[in-house]
Amino acid sequence: MNFALALVFRWIHIGSAITVVGGTVFMLFVLLPAARQILDEEHLKLRAAVLKRWKMFVHVGIGLFLISGLYNYIFVMAPLHKGDGLYHALMGVKMLLALGVFGLAEVLVGRSKLAEKLRQNASKFLTINLVLAAIIVMLSGFLRTIPAKPVPAAVPVSSVAAPSV
Ligand code: HEM
Repeated sequence: MNFALALVFRWIHIGSAITVVGGTVFMLFVLLPAARQILDEEHLKLRAAVLKRWKMFVHVGIGLFLISGLYNYIFVMAPLHKGDGLYHALMGVKMLLALGVFGLAEVLVGRSKLAEKLRQNASKFLTINLVLAAIIVMLSGFLRTIPAKPVPAAVPVSSVAAPSV
């Protein structure tokens, strides 16, 4: 059961990364350059419609990242890496970077004044988020190569010498 749950969460985690990072690549390298060539009312309508739909992917994606990532860290990976300072330090760095990416992604789809201001320079902030996401993916791949700490073998009771009286 735990194995199945960990596997499903792993699929969800990697699926979220593919969807959200892929969507950001599409926005930055396809949609923005193409939309820049159309500067009329249609452009503004398309912009609002894209933002409305993309916002849902950002909200749901962040929720799924957090649930699947925290589950896999707390219940699957942390017990396998007990006492391994490097593993936990790098995972901490990954989580902080992820929080930065989530924060920026949320602001970019938000309705605040700051959101409007950042969207004026959408290419710059999408690039920052993509670079951070790429670092996160590289870190995650590296974390996977760190071998689990061996669990000390249990000593069979029969091999323990009885106290001499
Ligand atoms: C707070 C948020 C996050 C947490 C707690 C988290 C946690 C984890 C954990 C525990 C693993 C397994 C690591 C291992 O195998 O040792 C993992 C794998 C992975 N994470 Fe995250 N993660 C988070 C956010 C993200 C984000 C934002 C991305 C993408 C931009 C991402 C991409 C990946 C990828 C691609 C893997 C698979 C690595 C592989 O199997 O080679 N994660 N994550």
